[in-house]
Amino acid sequence: MSVTKPPAACLIGWPAAHSRSPLIHHYWLRTLGIEGGYSIEAIPPEGFAEFVLHLSTHGFVGANVTIPHKERALALSKPDERASAVGAANTLWYEGDELRSTNTDIEGFINNLDACAPGWDRAEDALVLGAGGASRAVVFGLLERGIKSVHLANRTIERARALADQFGAHVHPVAWETVEDVLPRAGLLVNTTSLGMHGQPPLQIDVGLLPDNAVVADLVYVPLETPLLAAARARGLKVADGLGMLLHQAVRGFELWFGQRPKVTPELRELVEADLKG
Ligand code: ATR
Repeated sequence: MSVTKPPAACLIGWPAAHSRSPLIHHYWLRTLGIEGGYSIEAIPPEGFAEFVLHLSTHGFVGANVTIPHKERALALSKPDERASAVGAANTLWYEGDELRSTNTDIEGFINNLDACAPGWDRAEDALVLGAGGASRAVVFGLLERGIKSVHLANRTIERARALADQFGAHVHPVAWETVEDVLPRAGLLVNTTSLGMHGQPPLQIDVGLLPDNAVVADLVYVPLETPLLAAARARGLKVADGLGMLLHQAVRGFELWFGQRPKVTPELRELVEADLKG
């Protein structure tokens, strides 16, 4: 008699990162009454291809992928449009025998905005700070949602120009020194840089220059309330924080692996907040 094991997914990274993903997925498994597992697998770069190409043999129905494996994961699987656009995959699953990949940062960002600031997409102009991988996901999501003008500011202007070139006519590079010129028409301001993160300098930006109905989003979630979000809240603006995006980006992976679309509940948020503060 063969015994069927419950489905399990994992997070593949190197070195073994302290991640909130097990807490999130275990919460959903428990509250939805699904028998399943989620573990952290520390896999060095030289072992990554073997591990991923035999994911099911290793007992997994899918995986999240984090630093430094996201680009390799894309190359070793069949990516969807989102993973291809971002140039990095963070979620793997099987479609039949085929290993597929996606990037869930895009929907994590957009769904979090929808939850925190409904109507945010009435903004005609968005200002995105930073031009790394996270920025690429944000810009793709904004364009997909129909934002007309995305202004992209980065300390190293060449990176903003290169990203703008890839996305086309709706994305405009902005010199870091001239960001304040764009603020008065930015209906949405998004920080994708590491500024404001614990141990990093704060982001020096005057939220007083934003329009009255602007929405401010920060991808940083340590601390939960960055100086940018605190200033925006103090001005009465709607905000979307990095923890919200983290929780929302986890939804799709769970759905692909375990077959049910979970909800980002206040209880889940409290659980992860307590862990971050702990
Ligand atoms: P990610 O993939 O998370 O986006 P990244 O590629 O390392 O990470 O990008 C980090 C972003 O934070 C970049 O836009 C970086 O600006 P540069 O391209 O000029 O490096 C930005 N950043 C980091 N430290 C900064 C600082 N002190 N001032 C301004 N921008 C900063």
